[in-house]
Amino acid sequence: MTTSTQLAPVKWEDDALVLLDQTRLPVETVYLTLTTAEEVWASIRHLQVRGAPAIGMAAAYGLYLGVRGSEATTSEAFAKDLLATAEYLGTSRPTAVNLFWALDRIKARIQQEGDKAISELKAAVLDEALAIQREDAEVCRTIGEHLLTLLHDGMGILTHCNPGALATAAYGTATAPFYLAKERGWDLKVYADETRPVLQGARLTAFELQQAGIDVTLICDNMAAMVMAQGKVEAVIVGTDRVAANGDVANKIGTYGVAVLAKAHGIPFYVAAPLSSVDLETATGADIPIEERPAEEITHGLGKQVAPDNIKVYNPAFDVTPAEYITAIVTETGIFKPQEIGNSKK
Ligand code: MRU
Repeated sequence: MTTSTQLAPVKWEDDALVLLDQTRLPVETVYLTLTTAEEVWASIRHLQVRGAPAIGMAAAYGLYLGVRGSEATTSEAFAKDLLATAEYLGTSRPTAVNLFWALDRIKARIQQEGDKAISELKAAVLDEALAIQREDAEVCRTIGEHLLTLLHDGMGILTHCNPGALATAAYGTATAPFYLAKERGWDLKVYADETRPVLQGARLTAFELQQAGIDVTLICDNMAAMVMAQGKVEAVIVGTDRVAANGDVANKIGTYGVAVLAKAHGIPFYVAAPLSSVDLETATGADIPIEERPAEEITHGLGKQVAPDNIKVYNPAFDVTPAEYITAIVTETGIFKPQEIGNSKK
């Protein structure tokens, strides 16, 4: 499913998890080979793999790596090992619900398998991880098809962070219509916010779209208002780490500001959300755990010290965009008003 112009952030090769180290992009293309759950935990925490669906895929393989050496002799003992490893991997990052969705899906599969031989249960864990990755590519393509119905040839579109091929099995979520538009010969003009402090927009979105031959222009985060006022942008499309039951959406820090700006300029604001990011058990955005990351991302974020020693820093990695700022949430099951996101899973 992955087209040759897209980069694969997560691969299962020769009994190991192979990750494209996203902290080194766009300057270096380095692949990491991981063979333990501890290595996978660290790669998620340190953003070598990032983006909600990719975090879920990596955690799924991490769960297999954590239990493949299990010495359990009964299915109950194996399930206990599985739960302990899943709980551990769940502590790597708190906001993207895809992480917990993927781990829960594997736990449910093993419960369904019942009292099988331990070797068969281990094989089922890997099989489910592979299925999660396979399905994600299809889901992203379908989200892209739905989003394309809201767009037209020649349009300017702003995006934030990296909801791209680098964050998924293929196509990305919010970037999927850009890849599909390219396949159809459309000429979309994408504006990528650089996305301080970790610069996923500059390092990753600008990089992957440029590699795919998509017309992309990089802007600093504080230029979005100007670009909108100049009429260069007719829609905003972002990804998400978690959609709450009331339609509030958590995404990379800065997304909320972009949504407010879009509303002020009468520009539609779309959220691309696979169902693996829709968390109907979380009532509102206020209930979504927001990760805080190390101060150094801000004080030393551009490779050199850019703030005084010992300065107080607040570094939330995500914010919540209230449902009222969102025009529609687009999932693989269709296009929903944020307040009707509950219907996406029916
Ligand atoms: O901290 P990151 O890079 O994992 O944050 C990623 C984002 O906020 C993405 O926009 C989100 O995960 C959607 S990815 C399809």
